[in-house]
Amino acid sequence: MSRSAHPAGPRYADVIPEGHYSAPPADLNVLDPKVWAQTVTRDPDGVVTVGGLAVTRLAEEFGTPAYVLDEADFRARARAWRSAFGADADVFYAGKAFLSRAVVRWLHEEGLNLDVCSGGELATALSAGMPADRIAFHGNNKSSDEIHRAVSAGVGRIVLDSFQEIVRVAHIAESLGKRQRVQIRITVGVEAHTHEFIATAHEDQKFGIPLAGGQAAEAVRRALQLDGIELIGIHSHIGSQIFDMSGFEVAAHRVVGLLKDVRDEHGIELPEIDLGGGLGIAYTSDDDPREPHEIAKALTEIVSRECEAAKLRTPRISVEPGRAIVGPTAFTLYEVGTIKPLDGLRTYVSVDGGMSDNIRTALYDAEYSVALVSRTSDAAPMLARVVGKHCESGDIVVKDAFLPADVAPGDLIAVPATGAYCRSMASNYNHVLRPPVVAVNDGEARVIVRRETEEDLLRLDVG
Ligand code: LLP
Repeated sequence: MSRSAHPAGPRYADVIPEGHYSAPPADLNVLDPKVWAQTVTRDPDGVVTVGGLAVTRLAEEFGTPAYVLDEADFRARARAWRSAFGADADVFYAGKAFLSRAVVRWLHEEGLNLDVCSGGELATALSAGMPADRIAFHGNNKSSDEIHRAVSAGVGRIVLDSFQEIVRVAHIAESLGKRQRVQIRITVGVEAHTHEFIATAHEDQKFGIPLAGGQAAEAVRRALQLDGIELIGIHSHIGSQIFDMSGFEVAAHRVVGLLKDVRDEHGIELPEIDLGGGLGIAYTSDDDPREPHEIAKALTEIVSRECEAAKLRTPRISVEPGRAIVGPTAFTLYEVGTIKPLDGLRTYVSVDGGMSDNIRTALYDAEYSVALVSRTSDAAPMLARVVGKHCESGDIVVKDAFLPADVAPGDLIAVPATGAYCRSMASNYNHVLRPPVVAVNDGEARVIVRRETEEDLLRLDVG
């Protein structure tokens, strides 16, 4: 397929401030394995394939936009986390990153546990057969109904997030004749190096009970007095999309410090600590994430060292990766529509989705990559901004990226690393229909979350 170049192709050096942006890659047709799902490659005709299936065929069969998820990659990453932490630790996949019944079954089969944070996520987990005792229930404002359902179902743990909740969970469990296993989530006062909205362990925010001022110690005191709950440990989650392990190191140090204070005051060694999720992934070639085995090694070493220094038995560790498991396993497949070259600025390439299927760029100023996937091209790199179809100028999917200058309406382009927090944060803005999630594996594709229809929209509108 050969197409003519668009007229305005501003040179990237003219519009991008120096040092702000890397130069275009030497060959735009090459797909960086860092940002693409494991089975993604190009076939001899230049068409990108995943799980052995051409994206052109997927687009024909399932339409665009669509999230395309590489099941083998998901399972491999889940397994890598599981085996990195071994039998003395637990890996809870954070369902908020992306949850569906198929995902729950894969997790169950691969031996992972599941972190849920709403009645809806709990219902999904239970309906797909995740054993309740492998579920952790989270949230800073759980309703009484959610707590009731979680306790009745027999979830393995509820992570308590406030003083009110300590009492509420204890009462509900008692009323059901149960003793609920709980952890207390504390804020350790760490500033994670990530976007402010996704950093969660500094003190001025809504999650957890601050370690500062003895509040966490007071929460432990109260929890230990109540019959309806059994305090099994302390939980800390410092934020999301973090590359630097030093935040975890400080968090582990402070959590273990609390365990030591609890031992000194109450004569009890709490048997578990949870260090949360938050490990970063590569959205662009500039990101360098760590492998699960490096993370497991670093975290277990920190905890053992701290416990040895405090003369505590090393507690059972758990972690809650969401993004690091599902994020890299999917890409969003779009069809190119309108193209607007703006002289001296950049070329706006519109796709058939937008901020309704990926709000992260608008919300967090997130960086993404993009590639032409229905063919290769030898055209020169063109500085592009990939935008959606919404009535909003902030409707940007990829802020600055290079596409071949001959990209044209009808081409398929794909944005990699959209497995986490894209479908799960998707909206119906402008009554745009949420895309399906298509799982591919070994030459087969199946819809695991179907595309929304106008009927779905109208069914909710009962006025
Ligand atoms: N555990 C807890 C208690 C959490 O709050 C979270 C994420 C996780 C685990 C999983 O974090 P992960 O490994 O996926 O980074 N919407 C934002 C991310 C919000 C994260 C919220 N909590 C984004 O798109 O970047």
